[in-house]
Amino acid sequence: MITAEQLIKGGASRGGIGATLERPLDHLVACHRRIEQRLETLERVVPHLADRREEALAAIRSSLEFFDTNGAWHTEDEEQSVFPRLRDQVSPEQRAYLAELERQHDDAEALHVELTRRVEDMKAADPIPTDLIHRYAAVVGKLAAIYRPHIASEDAVLNELGRRVLGDAELLQIAGEMKRRRGLPESS
Ligand SMILES: [Fe+2]
Ligand SMILES: [Fe+2]
Repeated sequence: MITAEQLIKGGASRGGIGATLERPLDHLVACHRRIEQRLETLERVVPHLADRREEALAAIRSSLEFFDTNGAWHTEDEEQSVFPRLRDQVSPEQRAYLAELERQHDDAEALHVELTRRVEDMKAADPIPTDLIHRYAAVVGKLAAIYRPHIASEDAVLNELGRRVLGDAELLQIAGEMKRRRGLPESS
């Protein structure tokens, strides 16, 4: 039997979010693991929305908060700090790859908006009707279907490209921008 604590927190590792900010490419990979953990939580709550409404909604809220903060910063890290520096230095095929990643970000963002609406619908219902649970599960499924291969590709292809192309000075600038985005002192 799953406990309320497991339902809400799952296997998510605590802390350490700032630990890899000095190494921007490692930080992106570490953030991918945290995004995957929240996706798993969004999926894991589905069978509990009917009988453990409060805990399941709390687990969803916690995951959505992560996407609204760290998830949004992560996308900005890529789109505003990493992709522009790569674009100037890579082949047309690689530029097309970066454009495709951005398109996937847009698709994920649209699904995130839809997901937030589905969650609002469920919050307004007690008990939550089966059709609302199905609609929630469907949008989570679509989000996971975009995010998981996107992340796998970034871990393999984007990460390798970044390591090959970006120099130490650029990585330092990116690390500074990432910290600024999070309201952290750039010397930390
Ligand atoms: Fe991405
Ligand atoms: Fe990413």
